[in-house]
Amino acid sequence: MATNRKQFESFLLVVVLAVSGFIPSLCCLRSQKDALLQFKSLLFPKYDSSDLASWNSSSSDCCQWKRVTCGANTTSKQVIGLSLNFVGASYFPSDALSPLFLLRSLVHLDISFNNIQGNIPGAGFANLTELVKLDMSGNKFNGSFPVELFSLSKLEYLDLIDNMIKGRLDSSLGSLRSLKEFHLDHNSVYGEIPAEIGNLTNLQILSLQGNQFYGRIPASLFCLTKLESLDLGINYFKMEIPNGISNLSNLASLYLNDNHFYGAIQASLQKLENLETLHLGGNEFTGEIPTWLFNFTSLAKLNLEGNNLILTNERVAPKSMLDSLSLRSCNLSGEVPTWLSNQTSLYALDMSDNNLVGSLPSVLFHSENLGILILSQNNLSGSLPNNIGNASRLSVLMLSHNNFSSLLPESISNLPRLSLLDLTNNSISGNFPIFHPESRLAYLALGQNKFTGVLPQNLGNLKKLYYLDLHDNNFTGQIPAAISRLSVLSVLLLRNNSLQGPISMLPDSGYLKKLDLSYNFLSGRIPPDLVRTFGIFSNYDPFMSLAPEYTYGILDSKHQYQFGESLGHLSALELSNNQLSGEIPESLGDATSLHLLNLSSNRLTGGIPKTLENLRALETLDLSHNSLTGEIPSNFGELHYLTALDLSNNNLTGAIPVGQFGFFSHESFANNSGLCGIQIEVSCPDPSQNIKTKERKDWDSWFSLKMTIPGYAVGLLCTISGFYVSGFFRIPPRKRGRISIRQLV
Ligand SMILES: *[C@@H]1O[C@H](CO)[C@@H](O)[C@H](O)[C@H]1NC(C)=O
Ligand SMILES: *[C@@H]1O[C@H](CO)[C@@H](O)[C@H](O)[C@H]1NC(C)=O
Ligand SMILES: *[C@@H]1O[C@H](CO)[C@@H](O)[C@H](O)[C@H]1NC(C)=O
Ligand SMILES: *[C@@H]1O[C@H](CO)[C@@H](O)[C@H](O)[C@H]1NC(C)=O
Ligand SMILES: *[C@@H]1O[C@H](CO)[C@@H](O)[C@H](O)[C@H]1NC(C)=O
Ligand SMILES: *[C@@H]1O[C@H](CO)[C@@H](O)[C@H](O)[C@H]1NC(C)=O
Ligand SMILES: *[C@@H]1O[C@H](CO)[C@@H](O)[C@H](O)[C@H]1NC(C)=O
Ligand SMILES: *[C@@H]1O[C@H](CO)[C@@H](O)[C@H](O)[C@H]1NC(C)=O
Repeated sequence: MATNRKQFESFLLVVVLAVSGFIPSLCCLRSQKDALLQFKSLLFPKYDSSDLASWNSSSSDCCQWKRVTCGANTTSKQVIGLSLNFVGASYFPSDALSPLFLLRSLVHLDISFNNIQGNIPGAGFANLTELVKLDMSGNKFNGSFPVELFSLSKLEYLDLIDNMIKGRLDSSLGSLRSLKEFHLDHNSVYGEIPAEIGNLTNLQILSLQGNQFYGRIPASLFCLTKLESLDLGINYFKMEIPNGISNLSNLASLYLNDNHFYGAIQASLQKLENLETLHLGGNEFTGEIPTWLFNFTSLAKLNLEGNNLILTNERVAPKSMLDSLSLRSCNLSGEVPTWLSNQTSLYALDMSDNNLVGSLPSVLFHSENLGILILSQNNLSGSLPNNIGNASRLSVLMLSHNNFSSLLPESISNLPRLSLLDLTNNSISGNFPIFHPESRLAYLALGQNKFTGVLPQNLGNLKKLYYLDLHDNNFTGQIPAAISRLSVLSVLLLRNNSLQGPISMLPDSGYLKKLDLSYNFLSGRIPPDLVRTFGIFSNYDPFMSLAPEYTYGILDSKHQYQFGESLGHLSALELSNNQLSGEIPESLGDATSLHLLNLSSNRLTGGIPKTLENLRALETLDLSHNSLTGEIPSNFGELHYLTALDLSNNNLTGAIPVGQFGFFSHESFANNSGLCGIQIEVSCPDPSQNIKTKERKDWDSWFSLKMTIPGYAVGLLCTISGFYVSGFFRIPPRKRGRISIRQLV
């Protein structure tokens, strides 16, 4: 019994010794722990970061710390992985990385999305010879590409997306023999791709999108037969598609978009038997769209937008399984090809901005898969086919700027997934459609058509609606009370209809950014609680939460489509040309996000509320053609962003404020009862002097006018530059803004 107990005690001793650290493999190396603590103290000298809270000297084993991974060899545990993405340091210079270069055992290092500033410390990274995976994306690394990085011969994954790296790619790139993925998108690297790229024989993904590469694509690149994805989009390549590309037999996606590739779409591409995504948009290709593109069994996504191509309508039973096809802005003419309906797997089709004529073929809607159909900006006419409702997956239908006429097919309002319907600028007539109570519609644009009748109460069914544009139609009756149930409505455009009655009901969303009820016959007062709904969440844009659905579905998710007007940050209230009466409610001054306020041509009376001085973001203010009385609030001169002002044709009196108001001239104040001020060359009576001769007044006026002439020059200049900034003279960009998938997810 006693010996048993003794044996047990000595066994216990061994266990205790082992656990308490005598066996070295259980703890991380002291030197590595110190390096990590030093790194943390560089990033967070003053306070502890919540995320690295577990990194402290009192917890002995750094392998237990968050974001740290260890691996064991025979004698000790070593740090092999650090996931330092989004560590949340307010200032992160690249120098702060230096303690990490002591961790020579590192295999995986992720420092993405930290806003790290400065050069890439090449010598430091060269220390990390065991690195297999290095993610530095989403920072602000600048300076040139450090050649030392290329000495990491075990590196398989290198990600530098979204930095500010300049300079050329050095030929020593060829030393990265193990590299499988190289992502360099969205930097400023320029020059030719070095021929030594051909030494990276394990490369599977090469992504150089959004840099300034030019010259020839080296032939050696076409020896990289393991390549599955090649992205050279948005660079300055100017050549025909090289034949050698057909050697890349494993290629699944090829992006050559937005360069200056020219010539015909090379037949050699059809040898790429595994190609699923082909993006040739934004180049200078010409000629016929080759038939083989539609007999390409592997191809799922094809984008040819922005080229100058010819499409014939003679294809027989295409074999391809395309799920997305963009022929936007290709200068296509003729009718919408009916053979497209044989593409039974087609989900997204964009042929907008071409010269297509004829009607919309009903066969398109036989497809059960059709989800996105965009044919805006063509010359299509006739009525919309009744079988639209058969396309039960349809979620985006954009047919704006055509000449479609007659009634809207009833079936359109029962499409269960429809979330975006844009029919702007056609000749469609009839009443507002009666949408299904479960409708998912988020964006509805029926402006510039021939719709008539009253707006129905069941408008309130559209609970997801954030954008409603019915401008330039002939809707009559009152604004329906149901509109107050549209709880996410952000934009409401009812301009130029024949609506009447009071503005009693408005959306209660609090998301409203733009409300335009101009050119109607609305009467009564401006409701004081109008602003309750206005701009409280002015930076919230419901569209952003919907954007991925649209942009992702279309081809490559890199182009953002512009749906109607860009919502931007603009916040606008336009009630002009109605029959509104009563006073301007003081509460309007709470809509501080407003950029534009236009109440002109109504029957408003009373004074201009002093509270409007709080609308400091105003760029446009128009209260003209009313019957407003009293003085202009003196702090209006502090509306520093104001570039358009009209207070004319009222009964205003008193002194016109100066400040920003000094930039506006006579027209902004004309036809009032008793205004005075330098702007209209009428001097104001000086209240400190009771008696004033006429001569004295005139002299005052002349004197102050003379003194302000230089001021006018400056003012004019400021006004012009103000217009410039707000986009008046802006040359529209050739391409639309891009949204990368990274931003979306
Ligand atoms: C150190 O980290 C441990 C967890 O790893 C925690 O329990 C302890 O409170 C921390 N100590 C300090 C001083 O932050
Ligand atoms: C790189 O960034 C650092 C820190 O922002 C800055 O001081 C330096 O001037 C930049 N260098 C270059 C070449 O842009
Ligand atoms: C590389 O690591 C060694 C320790 O192994 C260290 O002395 C040296 O300073 C490191 N080099 C750099 C550039 O950090
Ligand atoms: C590396 O690339 C260069 C240029 O293509 C070539 O001359 C050289 O033979 C390659 N080296 C190896 C080892 O493949
Ligand atoms: C639109 O179609 C109508 C017939 O429905 C026709 O009278 C009109 O001229 C067309 N407009 C244009 C611009 O083609
Ligand atoms: C109102 O819309 C009609 C077409 O419905 C158009 O002819 C007219 O010019 C528009 N008026 C204004 C002021 O925009
Ligand atoms: C205010 O609206 C009216 C009618 O829409 C328009 O004519 C006028 O130009 C607008 N005022 C300003 C300053 O934009
Ligand atoms: C002022 O009123 C007159 C007469 O009604 C009109 O002709 C003139 O255009 C008005 N001026 C301005 C700037 O509106």
